[in-house]
Amino acid sequence: MSLSLRSLVLVMLAICSTALSCPAQTALRYDAERMQWSIDSGEMSYVIGVNDQKMLQTLYWGPKLAPGATLPPARMHPERASFDPAIATTPLEYPAWGAGLFTEPALKVGSPNGDRTLILQYAARHQSGDLLEITLRDATQPIAVHLYYQSYPQGILARWSRIENLGKQPIRIEQAASATWNLPQGTGYEWSWLTGQWAGEWQLHTAPLLTGTQLLESRRGSTSHQANPWFAVGRMGATTEGDGPVWFGELGWSGSWRMTLESTALNNVRITAGYNPFDFGYVLAGGESLETPHFYAGYTQHGNGGASRTLHRFQREAILPAHPDPKPRPIIYNSWEATEFDVNEAGQLALAEKAAKLGIERFVIDDGWFGQRKNDHAGLGDWQVNLTKFPSGLKPVIDRVHSLGMDFGIWVEPEMVNPDSDFYRKHPEWVMSFPDRQRTEQRNQLVLNLARPEVKEYVFNVVDKLVTENDIAFLKWDYNRNWSEPGWDTAPEPKGIYVQYVQNLYDILARLRQNHPKLEIESCSGGGGRVDLGILRYTDEVWPSDNTDALDRLSIQNGFTHAYAPEVMVAWVTDVPNFLDKRSVPLQFRFLVAMQGALGVGGNLNKWSTEEMESSARLVAFYKGIRATVQSGSLYRITSPATGGASQVEYVAQDGSQAVLLAYLHSQNYGLDYQTVVLQGLDPGAMYRIRPLDPSKYTGEPTVQGSVLMGVGVRISLTGDYDSTALALERIR
Ligand code: GLA
Repeated sequence: MSLSLRSLVLVMLAICSTALSCPAQTALRYDAERMQWSIDSGEMSYVIGVNDQKMLQTLYWGPKLAPGATLPPARMHPERASFDPAIATTPLEYPAWGAGLFTEPALKVGSPNGDRTLILQYAARHQSGDLLEITLRDATQPIAVHLYYQSYPQGILARWSRIENLGKQPIRIEQAASATWNLPQGTGYEWSWLTGQWAGEWQLHTAPLLTGTQLLESRRGSTSHQANPWFAVGRMGATTEGDGPVWFGELGWSGSWRMTLESTALNNVRITAGYNPFDFGYVLAGGESLETPHFYAGYTQHGNGGASRTLHRFQREAILPAHPDPKPRPIIYNSWEATEFDVNEAGQLALAEKAAKLGIERFVIDDGWFGQRKNDHAGLGDWQVNLTKFPSGLKPVIDRVHSLGMDFGIWVEPEMVNPDSDFYRKHPEWVMSFPDRQRTEQRNQLVLNLARPEVKEYVFNVVDKLVTENDIAFLKWDYNRNWSEPGWDTAPEPKGIYVQYVQNLYDILARLRQNHPKLEIESCSGGGGRVDLGILRYTDEVWPSDNTDALDRLSIQNGFTHAYAPEVMVAWVTDVPNFLDKRSVPLQFRFLVAMQGALGVGGNLNKWSTEEMESSARLVAFYKGIRATVQSGSLYRITSPATGGASQVEYVAQDGSQAVLLAYLHSQNYGLDYQTVVLQGLDPGAMYRIRPLDPSKYTGEPTVQGSVLMGVGVRISLTGDYDSTALALERIR
């Protein structure tokens, strides 16, 4: 397998998708005399070089160097003591295990003669536009490692590798990372990371990066709720939300992954991520290759806010699927919280009529429409419409939804089966399992072994047929459990399942998109269990959490936006008391929280009062007026919800023509006034017309200069508990 044509085409498309990029801006320079490559991207420079031992090492990762800057030639570090050999202290670009490497290896391979060492030395280079390929060869075994560097104009460098067996005998890969990123040697770093659990994803943590190894991972077969493959490293005391250095990155892989952040006793700081070595094994026959996931990283001097704005823009322009006719994310209605499994034609149509009155643009039927699906005990795998619930199939519902001015979406979970399904009774062997071992059920379901070619074809065909036979604009693609018994009895190396499963999933999604170019897909896994830059190449949005409580959502969404763009973050307004924690939050607060991303509604509209329906329609209309800014603008997290009672986010349109402030008050204390909100990212000299959602909550001037808004700030009046408001600021030309 060589670097796929598809990757190259995507890369080229991505490079040419922004105004900044298409001019022949050479981000990549090669200094033949010093054998050094300098890669400039956004605010960052990245320099690597071949050293005196012919090994490839990092020379620099940080703020952009001036044109013509030269760095000293790469040199292997001297042995500090017999316990600190050069191989372990030199910041290698792709350290392979062997020769006394005691730090985290990027690669560990077993050769047929029992040799488990690799000494990777420079062999060749190849440049194609902004894509650099450096080939390393082992000194003894017929193994080549191709390192890829793709720089994107948004300030991101993608790195990945391809391990190639040049011999005839099979080799066994025991550990394979995408890349190792070396930070400037030193102390005083802090790191941020995201953890969570079902209904509590995207919890943001920041702590000193002390000597030792920090490890983030999923062993679950998919990305996981528990940790996300994202990191940000700053300097203690210097990095804030708005300012200071940040090295940041994320891995694009939707299977088991691992990321290690090492700060060694000698203060070498390295970040390595790729396939999780736990239970990993991949056999490469002679002539075969294994490509590792893409590991994207960047550097900014503009704090954590600058890092996430860089990621958002990059995701928007280079990762998310391109559409022939790009539109903002539509406002969705989803029936799950309203009806759960109890879906039927009359009930869904009643909800659709009401949804249309609110200005909703897409109506989605969730779980329960197929097979014998009355609850989560049965039916998964039987993707035929349940004719008791929908006697004439889906067509009458879809037609009515269309006549109400909405498009139609539906829930699927095609990688899973309930043992109580006709499908499982026919094909029990298609589930991942170990021989003679009980199959562990979670939510009464088992995972299909998508790594098997026949299962992959089956899943593709089932979904392709559904979308071909029905006018379906959108799939909510769910994945409601993690793996157990990851066996693959028909494969020579069953552990290859960790790679092949995910590659097959991507292939299915890519083919579906190809066959149905207008189809949009949401990645859901019991909420935010499968969100990463791998799946986002094939899906348009994600469901960040099953938790729809507006207060919890504030912190969930705050964490989410550190790593992913607001427009992929679907957020529904649901009923109160909330199903999860019984908390009751006013309607406007729920709406304004959901407006931080792609707005949706998920309450039982049959129970909403006339007044609630009217207020909701007004709020939906307000959102339509700010949606482009929220979904494609620059996000400023003005005050984090973690700081207590008050929080705000602000978005500034790409062209600067509009800014939006969403402001929240959880609880007022001591009768104190709401804090003045100092805005960011505006044009200091321009005048802005302030369009308040609630005129009574904004008492300032109707037009205000940008420098005043960013210096003095705006005063708004929020009082009591769960108060909220929004301002749209229109720049006056
Ligand atoms: C998962 C999803 C929910 C809903 C249910 C349906 O939990 O996260 O939004 O679709 O499945 O079973």
